[in-house]
Amino acid sequence: MEMNAQNIEEIVRQVLAGMNGSAPAAPSYAAPAGGVPKTAHVAMLTSLGHYDVKEFPIPELGDDDILVKVEGTGICGTDQHEFKKDPFGLIPVALGHEGTGTVVALGKNVTKDSAGKPLKVGDKLVTCMIFADDPDITMFDLNKQNVGAADVYGLLPDDDIHLNGWFSDYIFIKGSRGSTYFNVSDMDLKSRIIIEPAAVLIHAVERAKTTGILRFNSRVVVQGCGPIGLLCVAILRTMGIENITTVDGNEQRLEFSKKLGATRTVNFMNYKGIDNLANAVKDSFNGHLADFAFQCTGSPVAHSNVYHFIRNGGGLCELGFFINNGEATINPHFDLCAKEINLVGSWVYTLRDYVTTFDFLKRAKAIGLPVTDLITDAFPLDKINEAHEFALAQKGLKVAITNVPLDGSTNNH
Ligand SMILES: NC(=O)c1ccc[n+]([C@@H]2O[C@H](COP(=O)([O-])OP(=O)(O)OC[C@H]3O[C@@H](n4cnc5c(N)ncnc54)[C@H](O)[C@@H]3O)[C@@H](O)[C@H]2O)c1
Repeated sequence: MEMNAQNIEEIVRQVLAGMNGSAPAAPSYAAPAGGVPKTAHVAMLTSLGHYDVKEFPIPELGDDDILVKVEGTGICGTDQHEFKKDPFGLIPVALGHEGTGTVVALGKNVTKDSAGKPLKVGDKLVTCMIFADDPDITMFDLNKQNVGAADVYGLLPDDDIHLNGWFSDYIFIKGSRGSTYFNVSDMDLKSRIIIEPAAVLIHAVERAKTTGILRFNSRVVVQGCGPIGLLCVAILRTMGIENITTVDGNEQRLEFSKKLGATRTVNFMNYKGIDNLANAVKDSFNGHLADFAFQCTGSPVAHSNVYHFIRNGGGLCELGFFINNGEATINPHFDLCAKEINLVGSWVYTLRDYVTTFDFLKRAKAIGLPVTDLITDAFPLDKINEAHEFALAQKGLKVAITNVPLDGSTNNH
């Protein structure tokens, strides 16, 4: 038998059996040579603007459970909303849902991931917020009573072990409660950290396609160049769409959008009044308004503005309001009816979108889009409060919490 991390325990059992004439009982799960650690460190958001890194015991693995050693996790806008305002009233809670790491122990029933791909100790894993019971459900329901909170990793509080957020060194996945997880061993660490936010845009583009307007040669506006808008640009580019104008007030972000596929940029800070701004967008398309727009900011004003960038009969995907940021003013006659705008909203993703996202990231890499450069900064777990303040001040693009340093293109703090 070849000796490796997965079978070493079996070899020891056989040696002991040879010495004693009887083998000790096999553990009910595959585990690393050194055994499963006794405790894990978890950053719990315990009050507004403050995480405490706490130590909790790692329970015995059940037959459907998975223990993952965390490598890195992106800070999402939702984590930042929670950190600053707790809009969903979740405190105390273990956050971090854009995470990935290495499987270190597996319950004996777990042989495959949620897409049927074989899973073993040593594989790289991500979780998904969507439950296994219906692949087309687009989102967990925050008010769904019958869902154990531990099924949604890094967003909802749990009432038992607290090892359910990726801002940690180990995460404990309870497979029996319908959680979904994927073996992504064929992807590098930074790509794996980007899977979850990219899935949001894969879904938004799927929603956009239902209008029938988004085509190969469409003129497309992407408003907002945070990680969400930038990933939107990259996905459009991998689809072959080349006529993309980005709108933002941050020149650095606009510049980065060009690296991901934007053809032209409009800095809204340079234009007074919506008519001048709309004309700038029109100029960027050589005198045409956009066929389609993606609204990727959480700003109600930006929602009001975006209709002015779109041609009659064009389309709009609004995805910028994961949380309630207030009302936006539009003129239903001029903005919607008279222009016959095809409007779709988009929220999170389906399980199918998650799998499509893996292909997007590989294609982006193949055509040289520097998608992983979106992760500009990495902080260790014990600097998580600093990392959130840094991200809130828009000092970087995607900020990550990591237990291992990222490559040289990232500022490791
Ligand atoms: N639909 C979903 O499921 C989903 C999922 C995740 C995030 N979101 C939402 O997407 C939004 C963007 O996320 P992010 O992480 O990229 O945020 P971010 O704050 O990093 O980026 C927003 C960008 O919008 C720009 N902006 C602000 N006002 C603007 C205006 N009037 N015109 C043009 N640009 C303007 C900002 O300069 C910034 O670069 C957030 O509001 C978030 O809630 C939605």
